[in-house]
Amino acid sequence: MKELHEKTRSLVRKAYGTVAKRSVSCCSGSSCCGTAPAASEGELGLSCGNPVAFSKIKKGMTVLDLGSGAGKDVFIAAPRAGAKGKVIGVDMTPEMLKLAAKNLVKFTARTGLKNVEFRKGLIEKLPVKDGEADLLISNCVINLSPDKPAVFREAFRALKPGGCLVVSDIVLNRELPPALKKHAGLYAACVAGALQRLDYLGAIKAAGFKGLKLLNDNKYRSGGGCSDPITDKAAKALDGAASSVTVFAQKPGAKK
Ligand SMILES: C[S@@+](CC[C@H](N)C(=O)[O-])C[C@H]1O[C@@H](n2cnc3c(N)ncnc32)[C@H](O)[C@@H]1O
Repeated sequence: MKELHEKTRSLVRKAYGTVAKRSVSCCSGSSCCGTAPAASEGELGLSCGNPVAFSKIKKGMTVLDLGSGAGKDVFIAAPRAGAKGKVIGVDMTPEMLKLAAKNLVKFTARTGLKNVEFRKGLIEKLPVKDGEADLLISNCVINLSPDKPAVFREAFRALKPGGCLVVSDIVLNRELPPALKKHAGLYAACVAGALQRLDYLGAIKAAGFKGLKLLNDNKYRSGGGCSDPITDKAAKALDGAASSVTVFAQKPGAKK
């Protein structure tokens, strides 16, 4: 099982390493998640939602972004957390971390803030201390993990009691045909690895989170503006099969 997990991560790492090197969005023909526009630092956005917009970030908070990529959400969250707060981005792809570091130089020059840190690591084994974060965000990443329950257990460990999770991700509304389920390109494109929505919410609850709320729920229809050879071919089978959701949940315990 461990080997299979590493094989999956290696496929994902390779796909996003290529994306980072080219600094292109999925509309430029590569198989990856999302098509969000670049933010101020010119960084690459590969998202399927906007977890920061749904989060109540206060000055002084420590925010943890799982699968931070080029840093888009990190750089939006950091001014809100302020100089006394901190935003930590975790990603496993060296090329993405390199791009994020480049974007961080521009961010610091623009804002004067020194409250951002990128750490190399797996979201299934987060490089953070127990209870290090007040808020955990993630944007179109957990579907890529070969072990989603482990990600939510780690998210729970990383949060302080009373801390919140706000994640945007892809979930499935029905089973995909077996050929698509096994499609490596569609896995990297954030669809084939996605869980059924009830399983996704169940994994969050099983990790110990309470008060789950669906903050956003958008069904994907095929035939959008993006031309991707893989998704175009599978358009019919995919139409309405997946949704982008943003989920809120809380770790029980006393709030600060
Ligand atoms: C679709 S991109 C999203 C990036 C960013 N959240 C955004 O919205 O632009 C997925 C990112 O998650 C990272 N990733 C995927 N699986 C991971 C894992 N198991 N551990 C750590 N990072 C992972 C990839 O390297 C990639 O940078």
